[in-house]
Amino acid sequence: MHRIVQNERLSPNVTRLVVEAPRIAQIRQPGQFVIVHLGRGAERIPLTIADADPAAGTITLVIQAIGKSTSDLVELQPGDTIADIAGPLGRPTELPERGHAVCVGGGVGTAVILPIAQELHRRGVAVTSIIGGRSREWVILEPELAACGTVVACTDDGSYGRPGFVTQALADVLAVGRVDEVFAVGPVPMMRAVAEMTRPLGTQTTVSLNPVMVDGTGMCGGCRVTIDGETRYACVDGPEFDGHQVDFRELADRLTTYRPFEQAALERRACKVGLRTTPKTDGRAESVVPTEGVSA
Ligand code: NAD
Ligand code: FES
Repeated sequence: MHRIVQNERLSPNVTRLVVEAPRIAQIRQPGQFVIVHLGRGAERIPLTIADADPAAGTITLVIQAIGKSTSDLVELQPGDTIADIAGPLGRPTELPERGHAVCVGGGVGTAVILPIAQELHRRGVAVTSIIGGRSREWVILEPELAACGTVVACTDDGSYGRPGFVTQALADVLAVGRVDEVFAVGPVPMMRAVAEMTRPLGTQTTVSLNPVMVDGTGMCGGCRVTIDGETRYACVDGPEFDGHQVDFRELADRLTTYRPFEQAALERRACKVGLRTTPKTDGRAESVVPTEGVSA
């Protein structure tokens, strides 16, 4: 059993959980993830290890409440427990030792960027982080990234930082200075746009993919992605790949496959606890909010 040590809301639907997992905290590396299983009957959820404290024996998970299982997870309070956490899984990020790296984080993808930026900074690589959210309250982890170098925060509606998508800020950075490598994590259209911007420049671009995962061991095939025309499994061959070689169209298609089932599960959960769901504009269930007169 893994005890919750801290639960902190970072944005309207993103929560930071600090969880006891001493063995994982000792050996995890940037880019790696865990598969969390809350208990009997629950789904297995892959989550990037956003940070770790080996001395305290804890890892940090940043969770977007987007479906039933993630909504259950973010409700855990200090003292509650998670039955199983498997990991660290996946290949660590391949990181340079010098130069200038730009880390681009879109929304909750910013949490995946954080351990990469921290390790780059530790190695002496100059880091520029470009992070984005829909508006001010959706921009996360800015102070943590500011400790690693320069941060450019962006909002789609211009309510904070630079107005516009992270890709617009990236265009400016690519235009004015030397960039040796780009790391980009966020929505698929964002990662695809970043890869298309750096392709003509020949700038090494690493993206982290988030296909559906089941076992996390390369056995089930659920996380199949196509890289440079070849099948790869994100859980054992990734989750990070060369952005210039990823078949983003296939990834986007596969990510929508289970959306109706996820929405149905979220609605069943909402009925049970007296909540209603708020769908995103792209059809994804985004979060649950209390129905009138009912406390969440
Ligand atoms: P979001 O949809 O609010 O977008 C966040 C930011 O990404 C925007 O503010 C914008 O700056 C940028 N962006 C979005 N669409 C863009 C486009 N078409 N072109 C350029 N930039 C664009 O993000 P969210 O709701 O927090 O969702 C985050 C996404 O990241 C989810 O789809 C999630 O599945 C994905 N994710 C990926 C990983 C991974 O390992 N790849 C990990 C966690 C989350
Ligand atoms: Fe099953 Fe990757 S999650 S093969």
